[in-house]
Amino acid sequence: MGRVTASAPGKCILFGEHAVVYGQPAVAVAIEQRISVTIETLDSASESWKIDGMQFEPKRHPHVQALRNRLWQPQMGAPNLTIRISGDIPPASGLGSSAALSVAASAALRTARGRWFNTEDTTQTESWAEGYSSQFANEKLYSIEDQEINARRKGEVGNANHYVADESIADVDECALLAHAVEAIAQGGRASPMDASTCAHGGIVLLSDSLESQEEYLYTRQLKMPEGERIWHLHSINLPLSTEEVFLVIGNTGIHAPTSHQVAKVAAAIEAHPERMKEIETIGMIARRGIQSLREGDYAAVGRAMSENQIMLQSLGVSCPELEDLIRAAAPTALGAKLTGAGGGGCMVALTTNPKQTSEAIELAGGRTLISKFGNVGLSIDETENLPLWATQPDA
Ligand code: PMV
Repeated sequence: MGRVTASAPGKCILFGEHAVVYGQPAVAVAIEQRISVTIETLDSASESWKIDGMQFEPKRHPHVQALRNRLWQPQMGAPNLTIRISGDIPPASGLGSSAALSVAASAALRTARGRWFNTEDTTQTESWAEGYSSQFANEKLYSIEDQEINARRKGEVGNANHYVADESIADVDECALLAHAVEAIAQGGRASPMDASTCAHGGIVLLSDSLESQEEYLYTRQLKMPEGERIWHLHSINLPLSTEEVFLVIGNTGIHAPTSHQVAKVAAAIEAHPERMKEIETIGMIARRGIQSLREGDYAAVGRAMSENQIMLQSLGVSCPELEDLIRAAAPTALGAKLTGAGGGGCMVALTTNPKQTSEAIELAGGRTLISKFGNVGLSIDETENLPLWATQPDA
């Protein structure tokens, strides 16, 4: 029996939620909390897929179903799997649990099936005979009908003549792309790539509608959403200084407020009062200042920018009394605090050099807390045994 375990971190947003929907920059950081996915082949060929010991139901796990259609097609002879999902990211709280799951599961499936190359050079994406990459056109990858799609490349480049099945073939870009596609499918065609990319790459990710020359460019994503085509340029922010002395304390209100409602609320407010676009632009300005402070390693200024960002989010109407209670409780011991994600409930985040005190204050105010260092590692393959789990044939 073969086995692969992969894991990926959750994320929180330092600056720019909601304004990013209107093209302003946003910054997300990978947190310490992770989701881990283990896949194993089943002994008996007759059993169906299992997730956490239960029969796999595609409707309950749309992300896994969409990944199966892209990497592990039963029609092509892929063996049945049993999947175990564990971790410490609370679900549906804006911390990226579904993106982390999708990133880890795509890495596990890719590692389990290996990859065909068209040359013995396995270092270049161009030599892939199969797989998804920001370097190639990926027709149908985002197809909302969610049909089975073959990951093989066509023509000369698709000549499968060299097979590798070890953990070296897992690819962060492929997993970020797949995770964004399956998030979009699971969310009815709407998803920014912020969660998928932050959970895959780790560290700090900047999204913007323009190229940011001072940051490391990753790639550009485009998605046809029900409201029209959207485009995002993604970058990695590399911090110059050690971040050992600063921590993020996340406080969860336990209130569930769907992101789509919150986004619609902002849209309605701007439609009714177009001059409120100024608030969105101000969030963009604050985010740019925060990014500059991050680059300079000036965490006091990063904290101030977070708190200013919160004032604008409050004015936009996406905060709530419970979030404000937790933010107020954190303030005396923190460099700055704000809601993270869509708001209306969900989580807040404080930047602090006193994580214990800040966490206690938030807990006393009724929040459940998580403490995280800054900018954590992204996707990792944690364990492999008896690879491949599915030895695909060159002509499959
Ligand atoms: O609630 P989350 O973590 O999915 O974040 C939503 C961020 C928004 O800016 C409100 C929406 C978006 O698509 O970027």
